[in-house]
Amino acid sequence: MTQEFDALLDQARRDVTAAADARALDALRVELLGKKGRITELLKRLGTLQGEERKAYGERVNTLKEAVAAAIESRAAALAEQELHARLQSEAIDVTLPGRGEPTGGLHPITRTIQRICNLFGELGFETVEGPEVEDDFHNFNALNIPEAHPARAMQDTFYVMNGARLLRTHTSPVQIRTMQARKPPIRIICPGRVYRCDSDRTHSPMFHQVEGLYVAERVTFADLKYDLHTFLSRFFERDVEALFRPSYFPFVEPGADVHMRWAQADGSSRWLELLGCGMVHPKVFEAVGIDPERYTGYAFGMGVERMAMLRYGVDDLRLFFNNDLRFLEQFK
Ligand code: DAH
Repeated sequence: MTQEFDALLDQARRDVTAAADARALDALRVELLGKKGRITELLKRLGTLQGEERKAYGERVNTLKEAVAAAIESRAAALAEQELHARLQSEAIDVTLPGRGEPTGGLHPITRTIQRICNLFGELGFETVEGPEVEDDFHNFNALNIPEAHPARAMQDTFYVMNGARLLRTHTSPVQIRTMQARKPPIRIICPGRVYRCDSDRTHSPMFHQVEGLYVAERVTFADLKYDLHTFLSRFFERDVEALFRPSYFPFVEPGADVHMRWAQADGSSRWLELLGCGMVHPKVFEAVGIDPERYTGYAFGMGVERMAMLRYGVDDLRLFFNNDLRFLEQFK
């Protein structure tokens, strides 16, 4: 009997030690101590014994049972320890490695240029105002004194929507109209935004950006226009810009002008670069929005953002702004 128990305990200890994981150990626990386990079976023999014999047998089976249970417990603890160790090992972080860093984004050069323009005009007292990109005929053309037959209205120049009832604005000038309809002078605003034209080639994109400026008050003169634009251009390009105002025609201003600036060439010579359009607000525009042209005067201007960005950053191809090539965009971070 003793031999049988010793052999059983020996075997059980060896099996328990060999259990490779918690699952194998659990299977052993069932096999030995479970309801139909080998040691449980031994206990059932008690029923066939009497008196002293029964008592001695019971004690020995119990001792065996406890020894086996203890072996299983200690193996379970060892396995848990092992598992924890393995996890610590696999999840270890080497704090001495150099950081991988978070890639940071940046603002698009066009956005940066818009912000720069609006900030610089902000210093001159201009408030940034935006208007809708889907416009109607009145705000985009009529109120700006652009007659029915004006070439800017030609189907091929404009994107019409809603069967022609609306259109994608072709310039930011309608924001002038909306603002003058909603407010009383003095008005001093700068209006950035997307504009659309049915145009696409090396130097034209069907969507591009403009910034519109408008200053309306009593006794605003062309001298104000020249001074403010010259101040802006010098700050934008960070040097004393030499600007030239050449007479030009826009239906919504009178007189109107194109502003050019002297641009140095690599060979030491210079040429005049056209930058933007401007002029004194036409009395018909004031009439369209209910502002008294006898009492108020104003100036307006409009410039292309892509052009300003190309000059400032030395970019020679308009399409680079829209291709979304990170090699290009990352240079502006
Ligand atoms: N709206 C004109 C265009 O898109 C630009 C322009 C010219 C705006 C003269 C003005 C201006 O406010 O006075 O070509």
